[in-house]
Amino acid sequence: MSVKYFEENRIFKLDSKNTSYVIKIFGEGYPLHLYFGAYIPDVNLTDFEKRNVYASFSAWPEGYEPYTFTPDTYPMEIGCNGGADMRIASVQIRNSDGNAVTDMRYVSHKIYKGKPALKGLPALYANTPDECETLELTLRDSVTGAECILLYTVFEKHSAITRSMIIKNTSEKSFVIERAMSFCLDMNSKDYDLITLYGRHYQERDFERRPLAHGTQGIGSRRGSSSAAQNPFMALISKNGNEDFGEAYGFNLVYSANFKGEIEVDYNNSSRVIMGINYDDFGWTLEPGDSFYTPEAALVYSNEGLGGMSRTFHRLYNNNLIRGEWKNKKRPLLVNNWEGTGMDFDDEKLLNIAKWAKETGIEMFVMDDGWFGKRNDDTSSLGDWTVNEEKLGGGIGSLVSRVKALGLKFGIWYEPEMISPNSDLYREHPDWCIHVPGRKGSIGRHQLVIDMSRKDVRDYLFNIMSEVLEANDIDYLKWDFNRNITEAGSALLPKERQKEFYHRFILGTYELMDRITSAYPHILMENCSGGGGRYDPGMMYYSPQIWCSDNTDALSRVDIQFGSSLCYPASVQGAHVSASSRSSYETKRNVAMWGSFGYELDPEKISEEARNEIKTQISDYHRHYDLIHSGDLYRIISPWDDPYRCAWEFVCEDKSKVLLTVLIKFQKEPQNFFIRLKGLSPDKYYRLEETGEVYSGALLMNAGISLFNMKRSDGYSKTFYFEEV
Ligand code: DGJ
Repeated sequence: MSVKYFEENRIFKLDSKNTSYVIKIFGEGYPLHLYFGAYIPDVNLTDFEKRNVYASFSAWPEGYEPYTFTPDTYPMEIGCNGGADMRIASVQIRNSDGNAVTDMRYVSHKIYKGKPALKGLPALYANTPDECETLELTLRDSVTGAECILLYTVFEKHSAITRSMIIKNTSEKSFVIERAMSFCLDMNSKDYDLITLYGRHYQERDFERRPLAHGTQGIGSRRGSSSAAQNPFMALISKNGNEDFGEAYGFNLVYSANFKGEIEVDYNNSSRVIMGINYDDFGWTLEPGDSFYTPEAALVYSNEGLGGMSRTFHRLYNNNLIRGEWKNKKRPLLVNNWEGTGMDFDDEKLLNIAKWAKETGIEMFVMDDGWFGKRNDDTSSLGDWTVNEEKLGGGIGSLVSRVKALGLKFGIWYEPEMISPNSDLYREHPDWCIHVPGRKGSIGRHQLVIDMSRKDVRDYLFNIMSEVLEANDIDYLKWDFNRNITEAGSALLPKERQKEFYHRFILGTYELMDRITSAYPHILMENCSGGGGRYDPGMMYYSPQIWCSDNTDALSRVDIQFGSSLCYPASVQGAHVSASSRSSYETKRNVAMWGSFGYELDPEKISEEARNEIKTQISDYHRHYDLIHSGDLYRIISPWDDPYRCAWEFVCEDKSKVLLTVLIKFQKEPQNFFIRLKGLSPDKYYRLEETGEVYSGALLMNAGISLFNMKRSDGYSKTFYFEEV
């Protein structure tokens, strides 16, 4: 049993394989957070509740003995706005009287096997009801009739918990939710470093580490999407913690729109972590009887440093987030024409790429942007999702059949959430774009964003996409999203509900993605957003693959892949070899193999030598596919620790196969260079394929292998494959 309730002292204990999480209902229903960390037995759990309360400015609730309890210094499961808890609030509801004082107290709870779906939202799921257990804590504000149901699901085998909240209006009057964070976690210490992933187009998910300081710090997006600027992921790691040692807490929001993750360190040196929908410019009117669902967050704890945390996320997401036919199916090795041709193509040019792909051993051809409307550059046609016959004379049908006749699968590109001002769709429906009355809009990449909160818009998109998907044997769909949302507003929402827009937009996108993936379950969807701008678990629920970055230069792309690996598994990482990169084809391949592999080039524009080399690369990709996609990742040398070289390693579940990749980014003076492997079995013996030499696992992990004579030129990389003997 992962969730236990001890009635005598009103304690809930949520246990997974390696972790415990303890909640206590205190006094008149205050939900206290007592503990989250490494597993502890069920003994003397109440000791945690003793806190410093002697501070004149921290108020206690009327009726309590002075200085015995204050919500301001006690760790809470929910941060209520406007009362004695003066830290950042996780819930704020403006009631019909106009004030926003919110006071949530325990009324009841439910414990059950399995995990509920979250209406309209992506969420982790249980493959079988026994895989996880859920606690629902119902809290109520007796003055406003607002209820908060806190949901906790324990994934026992993965040492992970998901948290979310449902707000219900049980009163007779409407109220406005001004803040509804997915979770609130009060920690007893400030002795952590905060790790986040920041970036931009071409430099997504760069690693950043900083010590926690008093006051509020954190991350967020107001861009309408999770965005490359800051990923909805945060980790707290003990000050001396690193890749292999120390306590690491990972927090990842399963959401793809405006989010916020904040940590406030208070005067008691406690740290409050909250994460959820960004409350800036957010408001949601909840009518009597209605409910509001927050997105959920995945919480992972590891006492084996960042590496342990990452591997837990990877297993959890591979098993309980990625869905559908492609979950465990080998993804086709693809070639995409974007970097090779841009929009300058016709069917003959595309067929040439496809023919080369077939001869080379590639399994799928993907036609990127530029096949529809009058699209020859990025100034027009988004929304006009009918084929451009000047480019594809026989229509999509003819191209698909010719590609299929070669024995390849076929993929197609869409950017459904966008509309070009220069499009027939815009001329017909100017009000379908996101806009506010009386103001000129801001244009990004010459395009506007279509109003996904509207059902008529979503129906149009579903129908027009279906015409293509029904009539043709399409195997793959690349779903792109290439600008931020500005001047946010919908023509159909009343003025008092305009603050709901951003959330309604993403609910609309999720609904359309759900319709498409349900209607065409065999289609492999790959998400994309100007590279990896929507690389978040919300999107991973719909698309088991996400294009990681438009940066295909192996030497800087590798940093993006290291950053992404903090919480996202290799299986979702779209990674291609292109012609534009600085390094050799071998290095490009070695880096791109860490993901869902493919090529992105025009074979006519590369040398014969390069074409021949590519032919030899593919067998290794097939050979190591399972190891990379379902093995455990160990970061051996990370870019945030060493700017000159990096190394990563995959180990299969039974520890019998190991693939190590070492990359010299920039040459340094010759020096000793030992790589110590990780995650092997110390008692096993491993043969290095290249030399036939046999090493003990203990030696490889403790002494390491010496690479003093490895070539050290800029951009040189090498793989080392070991198998148990
Ligand atoms: C941005 C994507 O990241 C690229 O891969 C490509 O699909 C272009 N959009 C097409 O416009």
